[in-house]
Amino acid sequence: MQSLKEKYADYFKVGVSLNESTIISHKDIIKQHFNSATCDYAMKYGAICDIYGNYNFSNADKIYNFCSENNIAMRGHTLIWNYDIPADEFKLLSNKEAFERMEEHMKIMAKRYPSIYCWDVVNEAIIGNKCDLTRNSLWYDKFGSDYFDMFFSMASKTFGNIPLYYNEDEETHVKKVHKICETIKRSLDNGVRIDGLGLQCHINIYEPNVDDYKRALDEYSKLGINIQITEMDVSIYDYEKGRYQNPPANLIERQAQLYSDYFKMFRDYKEIIETVTLWAVADDATWLDNYPVKNRKDWPMLFDIDRNPKEAFYRILEF
Ligand code: GLA
Repeated sequence: MQSLKEKYADYFKVGVSLNESTIISHKDIIKQHFNSATCDYAMKYGAICDIYGNYNFSNADKIYNFCSENNIAMRGHTLIWNYDIPADEFKLLSNKEAFERMEEHMKIMAKRYPSIYCWDVVNEAIIGNKCDLTRNSLWYDKFGSDYFDMFFSMASKTFGNIPLYYNEDEETHVKKVHKICETIKRSLDNGVRIDGLGLQCHINIYEPNVDDYKRALDEYSKLGINIQITEMDVSIYDYEKGRYQNPPANLIERQAQLYSDYFKMFRDYKEIIETVTLWAVADDATWLDNYPVKNRKDWPMLFDIDRNPKEAFYRILEF
């Protein structure tokens, strides 16, 4: 079987999200096909530190060590987000205390995981239809929209030359594309270092289509910073609609075509796309089984529930 990472060696790294279970259960696939990885949960602030001062690195360490031993580069995910923070009431802290805690947290992560090759500093700042920076309300309510530049500057001091990313979802909505670009430009104009934009790429077989994605990529390429596709999966559902016991063959075919079209497009943008990361190894362990509908099986990945390659896998190797 051809290996994804070898086939794409001249284009970009091929990444995958991992957790402490999949590095054991799916280790052969991971080792064979991927040369970049992201912890799906284990490096989030609240995952590593349940309450202030109480750090437990065990899961993150296991994944980090697995990647080091197998020559898989690691992305750091994530620092400033509205979710998965320590249980203490951040809201009750003074601005100074909140700032210092974050500074301490960044230093701890930088010291413990020095070989991480880029960090998602801010995750999901903009709400699609609102187009302002209030989505990260935890940080926005304290610092206003200044939080964005403030934490990138903090990360720049803490992580030295390691590339710093802003990671965002719903990245093709026209108004949102505009706001993402405006936000990054403003920060760059302010002298703040942002090295890359992460595009999550949680898509489904109905939308967004490749042309919409391409239009967005064209806008993002004008920013002059790197791009990574950070969390790709392709649901077979039109959001909440429908429920299947088994994946219908025609939808799996449509999914294969979509993967193929998207990877072709990514190859066309290889000058700016550094990594394309899939948000699970196989269909047997995907967050989409519980999102946006709880307990509804989905089949969004390149490998099936028995961890065999799907048509989508073969299709993205055909070029
Ligand atoms: C967002 C986050 C990811 C992950 C997914 C859901 O996209 O960036 O870390 O939590 O939601 O799995």
